[in-house]
Amino acid sequence: MNVFVLVTLLAVAAACAMPAAARLPGASYTWDEKTAYTMLEYASASYCDEKDLLDWSCNVCVGNTTGFVLTGYWTDPVTKTESFSGYHAESKAIILAHEGSHNTENWITNLKFKKADLVDYPNATGAKVHRGFQEAWEGVGQEVSDHVADLVERFPEYRVYATGHSLGGALAVLSSLYVTVKKPHVPVHVYTFGAPRVGNDAFQLYFQSQIENAVRVVHSTDIVPHLPFRFLGYHHAPLEVWEHNGGYKVCNGSGEDPKCSDSVVVPTASAHAVYMGIKVNGCHARS
Ligand SMILES: *[C@@H]1O[C@H](CO)[C@@H](O)[C@H](O)[C@H]1NC(C)=O
Ligand SMILES: *[C@@H]1O[C@H](CO)[C@@H](O)[C@H](O)[C@H]1NC(C)=O
Ligand SMILES: *[C@@H]1O[C@H](CO)[C@@H](O)[C@H](O)[C@H]1NC(C)=O
Repeated sequence: MNVFVLVTLLAVAAACAMPAAARLPGASYTWDEKTAYTMLEYASASYCDEKDLLDWSCNVCVGNTTGFVLTGYWTDPVTKTESFSGYHAESKAIILAHEGSHNTENWITNLKFKKADLVDYPNATGAKVHRGFQEAWEGVGQEVSDHVADLVERFPEYRVYATGHSLGGALAVLSSLYVTVKKPHVPVHVYTFGAPRVGNDAFQLYFQSQIENAVRVVHSTDIVPHLPFRFLGYHHAPLEVWEHNGGYKVCNGSGEDPKCSDSVVVPTASAHAVYMGIKVNGCHARS
């Protein structure tokens, strides 16, 4: 399926879109631009090589992330995407960052839409997630969250953040839930950039019921947050912040505010690569 066919399908999808589901704690999620920018720097660093992350010398390893200490690095056997973890003493933060796909167009084209039950989560009745994202997370999930549990034990007063761009954003949603519900049972703050929809409405409601704060930045006409389609039963969680017309519009708590990126008629793949002025995927030098 090429991008043109996708855009046509999107128009159909918009016409069939279900009314937004209201409610829940997500309504109190908050937006903070500086934190989002810093989290984007970590998400962007996840596209760099391990050797440049070890001593934090990668192109984007500057600015607010200076002083970050890498403690864990994993490659998912299925998607070959990388995740890293570590801490930043100055901001008292434990970071879990997930890499997205290097080739956006290929990834979109190959994206399948099958759902699977979210199993082994208490009280998650009816919650379903994208099978491919779930498989990508399961490849490293246990190991990663054991590691985060160790960091939480070392730095109990630090705040835990999960972040990622694109597929990495979907992984951040799944990892934050795992870390909160299973291990180490701590609140997690989630920042995603150009993330696709991860699960159905029951899933996003469950996510809201467990996750302390979640911010989902969508740049302009980026196509990826429109996928997988709502008419297939997928539903975003709040809080969407739409980077649009040179500013940031904080959207309503429904997760699918019709006045934010859902209002875009012709989504584009090109808007996926740049967030908050940073060219995200590919480990580019900061301009
Ligand atoms: C979000 O906005 C839409 C349209 O204005 C409205 O229908 C919906 O009820 C709102 N949801 C929340 C949770 O405020
Ligand atoms: C941290 O990020 C903000 C943007 O939110 C930027 O204005 C500031 O210069 C950054 N600080 C450093 C040390 O780069
Ligand atoms: C599951 O729901 C029960 C009953 O509402 C509640 O007591 C329990 O704390 C919930 N567990 C989780 C992990 O949310």
